[in-house]
Amino acid sequence: MKKLLKFMKKYKVYAILSPILMILEVMADIIIPYLMSRIVDIGIANRDIDYIVKLGLIMIATAILGMAFGIISSHFGAKAGYGFAAEIREETFKKVQDFSFANIDQFTVSSLITRLTNDCNTIGQVTMMSLRMAIRAPFMMLFALIMAFTINAPLARVFMVAVPLTAIIISFILYKVRPLFKKMQTRVDRVNAIIQENLTGIRVVKSFNRQEREEERFKERNDALRDTALRAISFVIFLIPVLNIIIYSTIIAVLWFGGQKVVLGTMGGGELISFITYITQIMMALMMLSMYFMQLLRGSASVSRILEVLNTKSEIKQVANPVKKLKDGSISFNNVSFIYPGSKDKVLDGISFSINSGEILGIIGSTGSSKSTLVQLIPRLYDVTEGSVIVGGTDVRKYDIKALRNQVAFVLQKNTLFSGTLRENMQWGNENASDEQIIEALKQAQAWEFVSKYDDGLDHRVEQGGDNFSGGQKQRLSIARALMKSPKIIILDDSTSAVDMTTDAKIQYAFKEELKNVTKIIISQRVSTIQHAGRILVMHEGRIESFGDHETLMKKSPIYREIYESQQKGVALE
Ligand SMILES: Nc1ncnc2c1ncn2[C@@H]1O[C@H](COP(=O)(O)OP(=O)(O)OP(=O)(O)O)[C@@H](O)[C@H]1O
Ligand SMILES: [Mg+2]
Repeated sequence: MKKLLKFMKKYKVYAILSPILMILEVMADIIIPYLMSRIVDIGIANRDIDYIVKLGLIMIATAILGMAFGIISSHFGAKAGYGFAAEIREETFKKVQDFSFANIDQFTVSSLITRLTNDCNTIGQVTMMSLRMAIRAPFMMLFALIMAFTINAPLARVFMVAVPLTAIIISFILYKVRPLFKKMQTRVDRVNAIIQENLTGIRVVKSFNRQEREEERFKERNDALRDTALRAISFVIFLIPVLNIIIYSTIIAVLWFGGQKVVLGTMGGGELISFITYITQIMMALMMLSMYFMQLLRGSASVSRILEVLNTKSEIKQVANPVKKLKDGSISFNNVSFIYPGSKDKVLDGISFSINSGEILGIIGSTGSSKSTLVQLIPRLYDVTEGSVIVGGTDVRKYDIKALRNQVAFVLQKNTLFSGTLRENMQWGNENASDEQIIEALKQAQAWEFVSKYDDGLDHRVEQGGDNFSGGQKQRLSIARALMKSPKIIILDDSTSAVDMTTDAKIQYAFKEELKNVTKIIISQRVSTIQHAGRILVMHEGRIESFGDHETLMKKSPIYREIYESQQKGVALE
């Protein structure tokens, strides 16, 4: 909690003023019944109209003041609560941005979304309640008790039974509800997970006609959430009736004993009325407190979920005095092995090879042969398990991570564009790029041929994920976006798989002729894409099967020859 408190800094004033104003409001609430008892016992008893008017006016003024304090306090409380939540959300979002791929694998995307939305909201609401209810209830009780004892101490002894009894009942309910609330949060997580997975994959769901099956899966989790919520509520609903019974019993007791006193003349009728008002206030305060504790339980679950994120250290750590600049685009792997965090299997084993700056390296191999895994180690998206990756003469772990990733452009196999305009997407690579530079990159990636046809050109809208482009168009735009970085190394992970052969050939030609000084790593399933590479790595089950140029591999590598021949046949068949 201490760790989170620093996020309140900006809203400190509100966080302090809100409870102070709340206490003032409580005071007003407490004074009013007292004034009322005076009106009854003195004003009405003595038929003193002036006194009644005077106290009546004071009562109205107090009520208005109390209301004003209340409104301002609520307003400040909301400001502090939601401001606090916004700060936490921002910090958590920043933290997630710094996460390594391994960290994200560990948390899962849907859980991170729930934490950033649901949990942050809960924290905001609970904070707001803490500033108001948690202040209001105890003060209300304290002041009302003081007033009750001042008016008539012997009569006030009824509270000695009523208050502990209520406290015991509330504690019991809270004790029962607590684990259910915790459970509810994980259930919310599970519902969100399925919503997120489904909405991102909605097209796949529809094309496989999986709607019904998915609805069932959703229903099962949704029902589980509902049932837990209902179980929790089944305890909570007892709270109000039970409290009502206690309140009314207490009122009856007070009327019974107090009534006798009034008859005997040792207590004013007005005093009795105000006494009953104080009973209600005390009981309401207890109820408010119990509601607050319940929210606090939910809040504490959310706080621990947020802290889990904030306390996670990125798997990828930066050394002190990191190197900022790549000397050149040379790459060498020295006996590299890799195991995905949380898994046991070595997906890369004993990988050693080097390429020079400016060279084209092709990588081919069956699916699952760890091609993507291998290249992810170059911009340090994951760290090696054993061995080392040397880029530009320096171990990747010695670089400033941002600098390294700026100079190594990576077109991911699962690429995605972001909502905005085409220009904005291209500027991801270089914020200050001019339209000319963008068009140049689009041309190299063979994307200009379709972009130039849009009436709005670079202002053309990109929908979320780039869903308004075809697979091949998206791939070409992703390549252009990577080129915008003017990198020393560019990696294309199967980035032309959806592009037709002719266009692919044009892209490869542009890469070879126009990016002479850039090291190019091109992963492909198609021999034709990488055939002209200086050297080609043939991957097989996480190991290098062979390494050399097309001619050498045709002689030496049975796997390469097989892939080549199967694709030649494919061509012959067409
Ligand atoms: N994030 C991950 N966590 C755990 N295991 C993973 C992860 N990503 C990939 N793997 C595993 O690593 C192995 C190699 O996967 P990789 O994606 O590198 O293959 P690939 O050669 O790129 O395949 P493709 O040609 O289909 O893209 C696979 O067995 C896969 O199951
Ligand atoms: Mg891959």
